[in-house]
Amino acid sequence: MALQYLALVAATFLLSSLSQSPASAAKILLYPFGHCLNSHLLNMEYISEILSSDGHNVSLLISSAYGNYDNKRFGNPHAVSTSEKALNVILFDGPSDFDSVCDIDTMDALIYAPAAERYKKLMANFVSYCDRLLSDKQTLQFLKAQKFDLFMLDTLDPCSRILADYLDILFIPMITTGLGHYDGNPRPPSYIPAPLTTFMPDMTFPQRIKNLVMKFMYDIIPVVGRFDEPFEALKRKHSINTSLSLADTFNRASLKFVNSHFAIEYPAPITPDTILVGGFSVKEPYPLNAELEEFMQSSGDDGVILMTLGTITKRYDARWTKIFADAFARLPQKVIWRYYSTDSEVENYQFSDNIKRMKWVPQVDILAHNKTRLFISHCGLHGLYETIYYKMPVVALPISCDQFNHAVKLTQYLQLGVQLDIFDLTSDKVYDAIQEVLQNGKYKKNAEATSERIHDMPVSAKDAINYWVSYVIRHKGAPYLKSVAYKLNWYEYLSLDVVGCLLLGFCLALAAAGFVIYKLGSVMLVKLLVMWKKQKFE
Ligand SMILES: *[C@@H]1O[C@H](CO)[C@@H](O)[C@H](O)[C@H]1NC(C)=O
Ligand SMILES: *[C@@H]1O[C@H](CO)[C@@H](O)[C@H](O)[C@H]1NC(C)=O
Ligand SMILES: *[C@@H]1O[C@H](CO)[C@@H](O)[C@H](O)[C@H]1NC(C)=O
Repeated sequence: MALQYLALVAATFLLSSLSQSPASAAKILLYPFGHCLNSHLLNMEYISEILSSDGHNVSLLISSAYGNYDNKRFGNPHAVSTSEKALNVILFDGPSDFDSVCDIDTMDALIYAPAAERYKKLMANFVSYCDRLLSDKQTLQFLKAQKFDLFMLDTLDPCSRILADYLDILFIPMITTGLGHYDGNPRPPSYIPAPLTTFMPDMTFPQRIKNLVMKFMYDIIPVVGRFDEPFEALKRKHSINTSLSLADTFNRASLKFVNSHFAIEYPAPITPDTILVGGFSVKEPYPLNAELEEFMQSSGDDGVILMTLGTITKRYDARWTKIFADAFARLPQKVIWRYYSTDSEVENYQFSDNIKRMKWVPQVDILAHNKTRLFISHCGLHGLYETIYYKMPVVALPISCDQFNHAVKLTQYLQLGVQLDIFDLTSDKVYDAIQEVLQNGKYKKNAEATSERIHDMPVSAKDAINYWVSYVIRHKGAPYLKSVAYKLNWYEYLSLDVVGCLLLGFCLALAAAGFVIYKLGSVMLVKLLVMWKKQKFE
């Protein structure tokens, strides 16, 4: 008996020591899309922290233009330096003018610049970065020599695919634009709104027509417009292994991490190599500094409203300043406003005492604070998850791209608040929207329910990332998880060739049957006529 007991203890000890031994540490390279020190760079940083905490050796490839990288962190006092994070930063010789490229100057420029113009600017930015990266042969060779086990990239930057092809190692794309962009999952236009539309799954017939057209355009424009061509040209220019096109390289990806969660996302089919890690980047709040905490407490029972329109909304001119500031002045609440202006007219504006303007705000720390009542947000993906994690009702003010789609999800689908139209905005409309969301209790209730759903998971998004990264390395890319759908062209994918073939066969059979019936019929008709004639003349 005692012996058995001892054996049991020994076995338990052995098992627990086995499971506690660190997962085999891998060498991992991350290449963020960080051209403008935006939320995408922050996302990859979070991933690097998550992977480092699991014992991996993580390197981050970023442009030398960031200079002293650690100090350029939006003024975040809690930013941890890369050395503290045991993170290697590998700098490539990037363009030095990133401030001018990324400064999308005023609100007006952001809102009213034509999409084509903004796309051109963005593309030029991508191409110049890529050109610099591919020119930096020393860094490229260094990267290749490191023999990384895994490469993680941001799908927004096409250049990352060239790097994946060049390194020729396992890689995982991080899709930070939500489900349905670049992830290769089936998206039937009959019940799944096309990217960049603002439909919900229950579409009317006219909406389904529009949705089908939009989906077609979304799929076909990059092909017809040859969006990959400037990058293919760079590969030729720098003699990078061009055996694979950008699209084919992408199809070699082991898995896809998508920053998405079905608490927010419309229900849709996904392939087994799609791993949803929605909300992985939402941080735990820090306590506020003394000055901000005092401001929060001074709001009494009315509480505080937070307004930010994202990391790229840089400058408010006098007109936009007045629209918001006049509305805020009428409120009993205090308002924290991520605000910056270089407009000389603004200097004369008398801001009401309840408004606190800040160039940078600790967004999560404020959203998590129990004095905060409402978030006025442009509905970027980051803010979307933070809103929901911290149960905050919203006034949605989308400005561009997928923000309109997120706003519809937040306000119409989940009913966490109301949406404003940036193209038709007045001070009164801002005030009324705030009143509605603060006074109608259903928005806060829905925010709480959605937050519960997003937290109710078998494993956290962070653990899922660590698990699947190790899984991919253990199973050499896990190619068996990949659907072969990507090998089919569009008419094979839709089975149109099969349907066409069957239709043709059916038509032929029908024609043959018709022919036989016609022949038989005419023979019988002749016979009948003959009989009839015979009868008539007898
Ligand atoms: C981690 O990887 C980097 C890049 O390959 C390498 O220079 C460094 O020596 C590695 N660190 C450890 C502790 O293995
Ligand atoms: C180019 O890449 C392909 C696919 O990754 C690989 O099979 C081939 O060996 C590479 N060619 C050269 C010359 O590196
Ligand atoms: C709000 O948070 C503070 C600490 O941050 C706590 O002392 C206080 O009890 C909380 N109030 C409510 C109503 O939960």
